[in-house]
Amino acid sequence: MRFIVDERVFAEQAEQWIFNTIQTVLEASARCHLMLAGGSTPLPVYRLLAKRGGIPWSRISLYFGDERCVPADTPESNYHAVMTNLFHGPIPEGLVVHRMCGEEEPGRAAQGYESILPERVDILLLGVGDDGHTASLFPGSAALAEEQRRVMPVIGSKPPLQRLTVTPPVIRSARRLLVMVQGGEKADAVRRALLNGSVPAAVAKDGDWLLDRQAAGSLPKDGLNPE
Ligand code: 6PG
Repeated sequence: MRFIVDERVFAEQAEQWIFNTIQTVLEASARCHLMLAGGSTPLPVYRLLAKRGGIPWSRISLYFGDERCVPADTPESNYHAVMTNLFHGPIPEGLVVHRMCGEEEPGRAAQGYESILPERVDILLLGVGDDGHTASLFPGSAALAEEQRRVMPVIGSKPPLQRLTVTPPVIRSARRLLVMVQGGEKADAVRRALLNGSVPAAVAKDGDWLLDRQAAGSLPKDGLNPE
């Protein structure tokens, strides 16, 4: 489904989707495997999740869809950004956090991360760049054609350039997927991802997309939710 919302309620809508979906997963499973998006769009969403009580963190395992190859305690690290916005201080008891080790040799870090991934992620959150990248799958990347490896080292086109990313098989196999996109500068990327598949974010086209009006600005009004 595609949801277009006013930018003033974007974070609330995203947080509500995540909270509801975690509850749905935990009605049927003992544990929820939640893979988080990097970048800045989701940070207000994580702050709202942090404020909401009643999330059974002890039954959640957190993963990351991508990571920059930088130390975990630097602002460029997705892990650092997520953890400082999702938790203020020690993480809740029982929560399991699987960090991509951006400080390690990338090939070894990718192999190590792949070994701890669940067969399928229950919930996958993604952002989209104005060039249509998602996670760290950038236009022209060899990782876009990868069907065996589930985590790869890549050179992105958005600094920091050396990164780790999950590959399309991980995205396609996610049980539930939310793509969060804000801003008119991404409207063309959103259109290309949803209408003609010509950018990497098309790999997530069958998921739920939460868009603000500006990001949805290039979509046809009628073809929003194809049957
Ligand atoms: C990253 C993200 C990346 C991000 C997009 C959008 O590590 O940067 O994984 O895919 O989601 O670049 O970033 P913004 O939300 O900051 O626009």
